[in-house]
Amino acid sequence: MKEPKLTPLIKQYQDIKKQYPDCILFFRLGDFYEMFGEDARISSKILNIALTSRQGYPMCGVPHHASIPYIEKLIRKGLKVAICEQLEDPKKSKGLVKRDVVRVITPGTVIEENILDGKTNNFIGSVYFENEKSCGFVYGDISTGELYLTEEYEDGFNFIMNEISSLSLREIIVNDRGYELLKGKFENVYLRLTDFSELEGKEKLKEILGVENLIGYELEDKNLSLKAFNAFYRYLIETQKREITNIVRINFYRKNDRLYLDDISIKNLEILKNVYDGSKRGTLIDVLDKTKTNMGARLLRKWLLAPLIDVKKIKERQEKVLFFYSNRDILERTRDILDDILDLERIVSKVSFGSANAKDLVSLKRSLKKVKELKQILPEFNINSLDDVYDLLDSSIVENPPASLNEGGIIKEDYDERVKRLNQEVEEAKKWLLNLEERERKRTGIQSLKVGYNSVFGYYIEVTKPNLKLVPSDYIRKQTLVNSERFITPELKEKESIILSANERRNALEYEIFVSIREKVKERVKEILELSNTISEIDVYSTFAFVSLEYNYTKPEVDDGDLIEIIEGRHPVVERNVRFTPNDTLIDRNENQILIITGPNMAGKSVYIKQVALIVIMAQIGSFVPAEKARIGVVDRIFTRIGAGEDISRGLSTFMVEMTEVANILNNATEKSLIIMDEVGRGTSTFDGISIAWACVEYLNKIPLKPRVLFATHFFELTELQELLNGVKNYNVSVREYKGKIIFLHKIVEGATDKSYGIHVASLSGIPKEVLERAKEILRELEEEGRRKVQREKPEQLDFFLKEEVIKEKIKRIDINNITPIEAINILAELKKDIEK
Ligand SMILES: Nc1ncnc2c1ncn2[C@@H]1O[C@H](COP(=O)(O)OP(=O)(O)OP(=O)(O)O)[C@@H](O)[C@H]1O
Ligand SMILES: [Mg+2]
Repeated sequence: MKEPKLTPLIKQYQDIKKQYPDCILFFRLGDFYEMFGEDARISSKILNIALTSRQGYPMCGVPHHASIPYIEKLIRKGLKVAICEQLEDPKKSKGLVKRDVVRVITPGTVIEENILDGKTNNFIGSVYFENEKSCGFVYGDISTGELYLTEEYEDGFNFIMNEISSLSLREIIVNDRGYELLKGKFENVYLRLTDFSELEGKEKLKEILGVENLIGYELEDKNLSLKAFNAFYRYLIETQKREITNIVRINFYRKNDRLYLDDISIKNLEILKNVYDGSKRGTLIDVLDKTKTNMGARLLRKWLLAPLIDVKKIKERQEKVLFFYSNRDILERTRDILDDILDLERIVSKVSFGSANAKDLVSLKRSLKKVKELKQILPEFNINSLDDVYDLLDSSIVENPPASLNEGGIIKEDYDERVKRLNQEVEEAKKWLLNLEERERKRTGIQSLKVGYNSVFGYYIEVTKPNLKLVPSDYIRKQTLVNSERFITPELKEKESIILSANERRNALEYEIFVSIREKVKERVKEILELSNTISEIDVYSTFAFVSLEYNYTKPEVDDGDLIEIIEGRHPVVERNVRFTPNDTLIDRNENQILIITGPNMAGKSVYIKQVALIVIMAQIGSFVPAEKARIGVVDRIFTRIGAGEDISRGLSTFMVEMTEVANILNNATEKSLIIMDEVGRGTSTFDGISIAWACVEYLNKIPLKPRVLFATHFFELTELQELLNGVKNYNVSVREYKGKIIFLHKIVEGATDKSYGIHVASLSGIPKEVLERAKEILRELEEEGRRKVQREKPEQLDFFLKEEVIKEKIKRIDINNITPIEAINILAELKKDIEK
């Protein structure tokens, strides 16, 4: 591109742009944000706006008052938008207006309400990978002021992959190593490569928390997370261009303090999104989320992603739910009040960022008023209703202030004497003006004389043409219209300037007072955020109670034992849509360690095994569960292998995905894990499939960890395992034939399925008798063959028929015409070894 001659404006633009090379610079020019050069080319395409040029520079622009949707589009693409404002009033400044960037908006640092979804957090993360195994990780939401830190030393990469997808991170600050590891792994997750070498994180954290050391927060020697925090904080400062004062809720967590749900399980169990269209319909969160506030909705989501494993804590939550459950009247009133409490966290973040206007503070005040009511009906929740903040706001800010902070009308007169005096001055002058019309009509005798106002001339006196001869000599002509003329008088101008200057002074004063009130509120940010914690918890507890009453859930017994016993359990989502048949479950780490569930298609196998996992999750977040009765021995990980999904993005076939997931389960199961496996081995040929499924069950039964397993399968062969292995139990989902039709009873009963059932079903379908007879014959043969092959005494030799295949293959490969006797003997020896192995 040829260098255009630089005007001072373009020079100013370039100087600023140089400091923000990786951002789209929104350069404020009057009422527009303009983009130039490459920025303009990129943005005009994404935003679908016209590309023009200014002095040879490509240029495009968006109106400043409607810029939000444009900014949103750009950051959705992962771009950063640097907002460059005019820092002085162009009317008052001589020459070039001073400009600078006031904030950089990125996908993870948005605070604009119109862009954010109220019910989900907008987290930004920072990860420092020391190597593939160890890393420090931080994530936070600047629109709600919460921050979480953790470290991982064994499984760093997988852990971070999981966190990124379950937290829906869009933007992550990474070091070189992290960049290498995470690059290309996700679509729509934007990595920001940064230098992590400085270590001031610790000092910064101490300062924010106001503590001498970080021991109380378990962070004293967590150097990896402190490094991640350091880069995180620096990025926030760089983008927000001010101190971040609302991040005061800081938590250190460990992967193992909670029921660890990996992203595969979150997906398979349809906790947040369904597998059909990715929406919330038909998910666990959809059933449970009857919260009244956005804060509550966000908390519920967090709880669902991190159920507890500490029995004491689970019981504490249950107690709170029970309180609302058994006090319906209080429950209803609580929910009514919560309806009127706004998103305190996001109001507070605006207060911290200095972007809250008077309407925001009035919202805060109204919410605090509701909090007072809540406190009255819920004395046991120790609500700090911050009455003094309420009083401050109530005494100072009018009920319906304008959105603009520069036009006055914000501060209550009685709050400040000066405002009152200025208002009086204005009022008096206005009264004088009001009477002026009457007075002048009398004085001049012009009955149609009018006093008016316009923005160009200010106040004037208007006289129609026929009456011009009556105009007195002190009138000064200002403007001539078709039918009339407008005049001013010195006195009129004097009063006008009183009004204007008093108005102006009052507006400035009100602004100043407002800012000082906002500062006072800002000093209380920490307490307001604590209050919002309390409110969100109350919202979630009462929601659990509400849902339990509505859907007939019961409080589960939760303990540290191995037993999961569910009487008349239901699938929380499926039962919302069909008449549901409840089912019992009994699983432990002894006699009932592995449940093999068989049954024809559509019988309800998959629903059943998922229902157990969902009930466990619900119990461990403190909710009641869809069952007559339940006892849950706490689970620390839920593994799922469900459904036939391919992962085209990672280039894995259906079967490869299945096997990778199975491998993950076998390698990482713990003694407190619950494993849900649906049709493992279906993705390949029958014999391979059966062998793999068989070997998995054997392995899970053999290892001393003895994790609890629910295994749904079409392979009836697996039901033989019950007799071979201690701890394996057969169940099937019963169906019944009635008047020539099959009725799905959806009832889980002990024992294996009747194997001839498939052909039985076929016989009902009109298939010729001859074909059916032949099918039965084949079935008998296959069954006998199967029995011969699977040797009961030595079940570990199931790979027998695999071995047979291997040996056959080796013999086939021998090229009889081209083999030396020595080679022949070697092969023979190898084959013999194969057989004896
Ligand atoms: N306990 C139940 N009560 C009522 N309806 C049920 C129950 N369990 C399952 N169903 C219904 O049956 C349908 C099929 O259930 P599910 O998907 O679990 O069958 P499946 O045995 O896994 O079948 P396939 O072998 O084809 O995978 C469900 O979509 C649901 O509508
Ligand atoms: Mg199924």
